[in-house]
Amino acid sequence: MSRPSFSVKGLHVLISGGCGGIGSAFAKAFIAHGASVTVTDLQPPSESLSALGVAYHQLDVTNDEAVEALAKKIDRLDVLIHCAGKLIRWEEHDPKVFRNIVDIHLFGNVRLAAAFRPHLKAGKGCMINIGSMYSYFGAPQIPAYASAKTAIVGLTKSLAIAYAEDGIRVNAIAPGWINTQISRRGRENPEFNAKVLARLPAGKWAEPEELAGTALFLASPASHLINGVTIPVDGGYVAS
Ligand SMILES: NC(=O)c1ccc[n+]([C@@H]2O[C@H](COP(=O)([O-])OP(=O)(O)OC[C@H]3O[C@@H](n4cnc5c(N)ncnc54)[C@H](O)[C@@H]3O)[C@@H](O)[C@H]2O)c1
Repeated sequence: MSRPSFSVKGLHVLISGGCGGIGSAFAKAFIAHGASVTVTDLQPPSESLSALGVAYHQLDVTNDEAVEALAKKIDRLDVLIHCAGKLIRWEEHDPKVFRNIVDIHLFGNVRLAAAFRPHLKAGKGCMINIGSMYSYFGAPQIPAYASAKTAIVGLTKSLAIAYAEDGIRVNAIAPGWINTQISRRGRENPEFNAKVLARLPAGKWAEPEELAGTALFLASPASHLINGVTIPVDGGYVAS
């Protein structure tokens, strides 16, 4: 191999939950590096994201038919990123709520993977799943979220092996403590926030843009040997 290429120029990227904090930051980073981006979400993109020319489709990732219908509308896809997510503190002990949270994070991931596998196969593309610090630790307030995020690690390994015959790579990013809507209540709880900061070598919550370099790398040819792994991007939290 000659010099490694870190380019994502010309790639077509689809980001579920792409109008949220991390999804939007990923969308902007891929566009800045010459990729074209489609975002899907329950909510529309911000003005700043729309202004960059992203395509937007409203999509509930828990809806089988809607995911399949979207896959029929999209001709080409090189990078699939599942960023849609939700958590509901304490209520996740109710089995109905538990089911919904797992449906979004885990089954949503499976639905998108199955629907877009043919597209990714055609372009020898890749998937980037999203884990969490709760891929590694239990979470008494959000047991469904933690279960789904732990399962994402296994799903990522399993799909990496299964899809290798199609030339598709499957990896995941496990973000640390990121300043977005989903984590707002934890951040604003002084006791919880103090516990996080006490263990966090980086010493501060990160901005979603700080994860984007890892996503670009995982989508680029330079990472072609990386497959089936979940990479903590966490300011050193799991190491400490
Ligand atoms: N922020 C953090 O600290 C952190 C840490 C670890 C992992 N994560 C994960 O990163 C991913 C992105 O989260 P974020 O931090 O950007 O949060 P966010 O709340 O800003 O974004 C989540 C997005 O998912 C969308 N969504 C929720 N339910 C959906 C559904 N059924 N169908 C489609 N879209 C739906 C929301 O509308 C929202 O735009 C999630 O998987 C989250 O669990 C976040």
